[in-house]
Amino acid sequence: EKGGFDSFMDKEIHDQPAAVRDTLLGRLNEKGELTLDELKIDESVLRSIDKIIVVACGTAAYAGNVARYAIEHWCRIPTEVELAHEFRYRDPIVNEKTLVVAISQSGETMDTLMAVRHAQEQGAKVISICNTNGSTLPRESDAALYTHAGPEIAVASTKAFLAQITATYVLGLYLAQLRGNKYKDEVREILRELEAMPDKIQRVIDNEDQVKNLGRAMAEEESVLFLGRHVGFPVAMEGALKLKEIAYIHAEGFAAGELKHGPIALIEEDLPVFVVVPSPRGRDSLHSKVVSNIQEIRARGARTIVIAEEGDEAVKPYSDTVIYVPEAPTLLQPLLATVPLQIFACALAGAKGYDVDQPRNLAKSVTVE
Ligand code: F6R
Repeated sequence: EKGGFDSFMDKEIHDQPAAVRDTLLGRLNEKGELTLDELKIDESVLRSIDKIIVVACGTAAYAGNVARYAIEHWCRIPTEVELAHEFRYRDPIVNEKTLVVAISQSGETMDTLMAVRHAQEQGAKVISICNTNGSTLPRESDAALYTHAGPEIAVASTKAFLAQITATYVLGLYLAQLRGNKYKDEVREILRELEAMPDKIQRVIDNEDQVKNLGRAMAEEESVLFLGRHVGFPVAMEGALKLKEIAYIHAEGFAAGELKHGPIALIEEDLPVFVVVPSPRGRDSLHSKVVSNIQEIRARGARTIVIAEEGDEAVKPYSDTVIYVPEAPTLLQPLLATVPLQIFACALAGAKGYDVDQPRNLAKSVTVE
């Protein structure tokens, strides 16, 4: 069962290379193209959609937030992400040209189901990304793209999250392939990179002792902040959610660029702040902007715990701790940067003596609205 691990959560963190590998399995052919036979929606319909709305809750919604950056970039289709329970109450603009992507590990989340039904009533096509065969959500959707993470037992989602992100990449790349676009070479390159991700995730896990020790040493903290930018922003949100859920510590995630618009007022002597740093090889000046953010909070006394790409020396002078993860294209980095945050929360909650698999007040699937 737990396969020698202290908890299901710990085991499921270690299952992640396989969860990502299995979610890619059979979806890439030898020509380096994607084949998604399970997508039983007419190709002409998929070619004609002019908007994508991702609906989901909690961790699955953060996967959707990562997906938005990837899908908009590869497909040039306007993409929104909305918490499922907010969606239908704002009278959303949905029609036959809207593709709704519902993400849910359990496939039984009532909020997500109600959002899907609302979208279908207005003529939208629905693809669900789901980890549970035969559950309600995929049955009610026009098509299902299953994640193959295997059963997730721990209440806090880990391997389902990485599998969900992987499935949204597959969907985004498939739509890009189908619709033809100016990023053809990039799409082919990303597919190759995606296949290399399971081994890279394994390398992050192989370094878990550094993060576990950090988590144990921080068991008495009262508040922890998480900052990220671009796809690092939903990663920061997910890091904060894990800590709230299983360690019952106040934790907040912010977009790093938002700091100066308010949250920087929270920074005080010794406050631990995790920062997810984008690749220095990436486009634009994102990397240097985040490094400036680290400098700013460090100057105000924060203890900076930085997740950066191997070889990134620029962060070192401003970091109390650097957790290095392997190189990857910016859009794929969440598959790596999330893992230390999961390990951290799990170790910290364990050090506090909590049952990480069964956090108080939470159920694995939320079947009421
Ligand atoms: C967080 C967590 C929840 C779920 C959310 C959606 O660790 O587990 O936030 O992600 O309740 O659940 P599913 O994916 O089953 O719809």
